[in-house]
Amino acid sequence: MSAIPYRRAGKSGLDLSAFAFGLWQKFGTDYSYDNQRAILLHAFELGITHFDNADRYGPPHRAAQKLFGEVLRKDLAAHRDELILSTKAGNPIGTSPYLQGGSRKSLLGSLDHSLRDLGTDYVDIFYHHRADTSTPLEETVGALSDAVRQGKALYIGISNYPTSLSQEISRLLRAAGVPLLVHQPRYSIFDRSREDDGLLDLAAEDGFGVVVYSPLAQGLLTDKYLDGIPAGARAQNSAFLSPDAITDEYREKARALNKLAAERGQSLAQLALQWVLRRTEVTSALIGASSPEQLDHNVRALDFPAFTDDELALIDEHSR
Ligand SMILES: NC(=O)c1ccc[n+]([C@@H]2O[C@H](COP(=O)([O-])OP(=O)(O)OC[C@H]3O[C@@H](n4cnc5c(N)ncnc54)[C@H](OP(=O)(O)O)[C@@H]3O)[C@@H](O)[C@H]2O)c1
Repeated sequence: MSAIPYRRAGKSGLDLSAFAFGLWQKFGTDYSYDNQRAILLHAFELGITHFDNADRYGPPHRAAQKLFGEVLRKDLAAHRDELILSTKAGNPIGTSPYLQGGSRKSLLGSLDHSLRDLGTDYVDIFYHHRADTSTPLEETVGALSDAVRQGKALYIGISNYPTSLSQEISRLLRAAGVPLLVHQPRYSIFDRSREDDGLLDLAAEDGFGVVVYSPLAQGLLTDKYLDGIPAGARAQNSAFLSPDAITDEYREKARALNKLAAERGQSLAQLALQWVLRRTEVTSALIGASSPEQLDHNVRALDFPAFTDDELALIDEHSR
């Protein structure tokens, strides 16, 4: 296997590992500590140095960050300088107005709490998790840039922002002296909306990087659902991936993509990851995993020849 390469985040000075690991699903108090620890340490051994968290991740909310904090303290503390730790705030974690949105109160309060949970003085990237049009963008920008000035975050990201608002906040952040490092949108062969709405073009023009989440469409872009729903799979046990997603139309597309992958000597998961990383605007593919073996398999995605035009056209046919 080739070493996982680093890729430059837009026009910043920061390199990020081509794969980042996220703790959204199956990290928290409901799962075995040993398995969660094994996955995180294996990711790091493989060369994934960027770990993505949020105040929301669990269940319950905040549990994934506490878990990561424990592994950081017990196993990875000596490597803190080699790690990129991200957190996010602004997606609701409670009914209080201070536990959601883009106000100064919500964002800086959440960041302080996350730093305590993670057991670190600073995060490398602090994201606003989703746009909040009820808060003046200037207030959000003020809070984000103060997080950097206070030394609690090194860089700022945004996630799920529509393209026009991304352009606006990028302009305001640059004016505040804290240029936007990365955008974190959903992007995969099955969700190309951020190509269509110009986000990837804006990233290239504006000079921010893109860390794409759910590049495997939560597992739909693997071979696991071709013949049913295996026990323990996300479509069986997550509120975020319904078994109803496994339709005949889905299977037809996934089988066609799986056939192409086999012809190229790779798996569907590897094809899907290589495909998102074909775009130079994309800095990293932000993946999840429920076992160390899935990681071993997935990080080999860049060991295959570049796609030909005919292969890309075939993927287009089965993507939309
Ligand atoms: N900013 C946001 O709003 C937002 C939203 C969503 C996610 N994210 C971030 O993105 C990260 C990744 O999202 P994601 O977990 O949806 O990414 P994903 O990579 O699309 O899906 C990962 C899941 O697919 C399955 N899988 C992975 N490799 C496999 C393989 N080789 N064979 C079979 N199944 C495999 C596993 O689920 P099972 O084994 O459990 O089936 C794994 O947990 C999150 O942890 C989070 O950090 C951010």
